Amino acid sequence: MQDMIEQAAKVRENAHAPYSRFHVGACIRAESGRLYVGCNVENTAYPQGQCAEASAIGAMVSGGDGRIAEIVVMGEGERLCTPCGGCRQRLSEFAGPETPVHVCSPEGLRETITLGDLLPYAFAADNLED
Ligand code: THU
Repeated sequence: MQDMIEQAAKVRENAHAPYSRFHVGACIRAESGRLYVGCNVENTAYPQGQCAEASAIGAMVSGGDGRIAEIVVMGEGERLCTPCGGCRQRLSEFAGPETPVHVCSPEGLRETITLGDLLPYAFAADNLED
């Protein structure tokens, strides 16, 4: 996981966050073993901004992978930088309830939480099959 933490720290340096000044980096390990990174990309039209997790998911899908084995999310501050609600749903499209979400600060790993704990009662593909 150290490699993922280092890559999340590196891509975090590229965050475009002039409005919040809150820089986030993410690194996904796909089930293929390949790593994909992303940072947050804000916009002067605020709602058009994109979270780091969404950027990493976009890179993963663009790279030809479709399943997330684990993800590192790195942000600073006293509170844990857990994925926002929208990103929990985005992750659940490509991950399962047991998928580990490693919440990190620039100093390293703070806590590992499963996606199921972050997003209980997820709305999933099964809902559409009823
Ligand atoms: N942000 C992320 O990129 N990921 C998270 O998990 C939480 C929040 C970004 C969105 C916005 O650019 C900034 O952090 C402040 O909310």
